Amino acid sequence: MSEKFGKVAVLMGGRSAEREISLKSGTMVLAALIKSGVDAHAFDPRDESLETLKSQRFDRAFIALHGRLGEDGTIQGALEYLGVPYTGSGVMASALAMDKWRTKLLWQAAGLPTPPYEVMTARTDPADLAKRIGLPLMVKPVREGSSIGMSKVTSVEKLAPAYELATRYDEIVIAERFVEGTELTAAILDGEPLPLIRLETPRVFYDYEAKYFADDTRYICPSGLPDETEKYVQRQAKTAFRLLGCSGWGRVDLMLDREGSSWLLEVNTIPGMTDHSLVPMAARARGISFEDLCVRILESAHVG
Ligand SMILES: Nc1ncnc2c1ncn2[C@@H]1O[C@H](COP(=O)(O)OP(=O)(O)O)[C@@H](O)[C@H]1O
Ligand SMILES: [Mg+2]
Repeated sequence: MSEKFGKVAVLMGGRSAEREISLKSGTMVLAALIKSGVDAHAFDPRDESLETLKSQRFDRAFIALHGRLGEDGTIQGALEYLGVPYTGSGVMASALAMDKWRTKLLWQAAGLPTPPYEVMTARTDPADLAKRIGLPLMVKPVREGSSIGMSKVTSVEKLAPAYELATRYDEIVIAERFVEGTELTAAILDGEPLPLIRLETPRVFYDYEAKYFADDTRYICPSGLPDETEKYVQRQAKTAFRLLGCSGWGRVDLMLDREGSSWLLEVNTIPGMTDHSLVPMAARARGISFEDLCVRILESAHVG
């Protein structure tokens, strides 16, 4: 393996709000690569300049950073410039997928289903907005992850505080119709969907707690959906992923409503990679171990 890949940097940590999660992902990936015989080393771009990747003679990078300055195209651009092959989506797709608003604009333009929404400003009238979109709705900062700064709003009075909270994380905030139904996520490996995961949480929605700490969140994989529905949603996720220009691996989040229609929420270009994260779970359902998954992602590293 060390002949095949050379010296590999696992980029982890960084400076985003999701630093802690990234350290968890990176540590697991590093251990899995080492176990597979790869000459892999931890590299935290918060503490070391990326240029030292060259002076330390790294041959490729496995990016296990989440959020800004990691998942948003910036690190990808720096690695392109340095000529270091890296895992996952390129510069444009990473930047686009980081922005939930522009992602939705693209999907809408291509006729893909994503819940109705509006960009909110300080001048948005809460009662009018609620009338146009309907309640409940989700208020989201467009460039955050891990449900940070996000609220489910069930009454007009709660809209202003939800907007206020979201603006702490981004100047662009959207209000999106809440889709009642089943939450699904489609993991993507080598551009192809893995078995869907169905998520169930007794919480108001799949929030930060539910994602990382709660033990009352249930993940069902295989999803148990009718075969037809599973295939239809997988196809839609693949189309949505490709439309943004994403490549390699990632994860598409969706909601399936009570009538059986699916609605695209967002794409994660560098989803969590701990052993109980979702992409590893979907891979396992396909018979791919965590170690093999990490090696396959590393194999797809590219520049340009
Ligand atoms: N329109 C929506 N309808 C229903 N639930 C939603 C909607 N948007 C978000 N959610 C819930 O909030 C969670 C986080 O939203 P998401 O758009 O995936 O952002 P992120 O994962 O980047 O924080 C989802 O996993 C889902 O549980
Ligand atoms: Mg999500």
